[in-house]
Amino acid sequence: WPVYAPYVHAINRIKKERGAVILAHNYQTPEIYHCVADIVGDSLQLAREATLVEEEIIIQCGVHFMAETSKLLNMDKTILIPDQRAGCSLSESITGADVRLLKERFPGVPVVTYVNTSAEVKAETDVCCTSSNAVAVCESFESDTILCIPDEYLAMNVARQTKKKILTWKGHCEVHERFTAAELMAYREADPTLQIIGHPECHPDVIAICDYAGSTAGMINYVKDTRPSRVLLVTECSMASNVESEVPDVEFVKPCNLCPHMKRITLPKILDSLLFMTDEVTVDPAIAARARLAVERMINLKN
Ligand code: 13P
Ligand code: SF4
Repeated sequence: WPVYAPYVHAINRIKKERGAVILAHNYQTPEIYHCVADIVGDSLQLAREATLVEEEIIIQCGVHFMAETSKLLNMDKTILIPDQRAGCSLSESITGADVRLLKERFPGVPVVTYVNTSAEVKAETDVCCTSSNAVAVCESFESDTILCIPDEYLAMNVARQTKKKILTWKGHCEVHERFTAAELMAYREADPTLQIIGHPECHPDVIAICDYAGSTAGMINYVKDTRPSRVLLVTECSMASNVESEVPDVEFVKPCNLCPHMKRITLPKILDSLLFMTDEVTVDPAIAARARLAVERMINLKN
């Protein structure tokens, strides 16, 4: 921690001078999450918070689609991401042209798109969803069939909780697809009291073993509310590191996987971002207007 102190002090001072706010996803490293972030949360919480902040500059500590979502909702604000190469395998699995082809193939079928997508894809979408509201968003349509894209496993997990026919795409999260049911069963057999909680981007066979599945915020709340003596978070590594200091009575078992994109964001890059106003995230205004509708419809749904 002492190695981080000069960066933490400098970031917090310059952030105030500039009138900037730092939004950080739950997968950011503890020194970002605990020491410089003003607001932390899952994708839905960050999207909601982005509509409420008063500061003119938002530093988005997360991946590119999250910064784009903040931009869509705040076109007149400056949105900075400390490293614009911070991508996402789900976001990169599909393009706007792919969605147009799907709509031609399945005319009239509502398109629900996971927020882990580019603005171009969101612009082709009826409404966005996150892992915490995907079932409710799909159920909000009268249609019996829904296109829930691009995360195949999230869609399969949604399909288990609704009577609707869910069509999907072959996108996967490169972090969550690495967890296997066999791996988790071995932990379960070694300690039957172990609580296993997972993210819905995991394969349904993995989720079937979990005691709880939900968004990153849902997982954190579950641990804080239920205080299991031992818990395994089936998700990105920083989650356990971020929560464990807040629940010292809980032991975390850690067969985690790292998200290389989230890990591109570091304290030195956040400081550079504030000093040099980099990397600025921009979105074509015509695409932004259509994409914003899809995000706003999600935010306005009562869930
Ligand atoms: P959450 O919306 O649950 O925070 O998930 C975002 C994400 O990228 C998970 O891999
Ligand atoms: Fe994308 Fe997976 Fe990384 Fe989340 S953990 S940002 S879904 S690659």
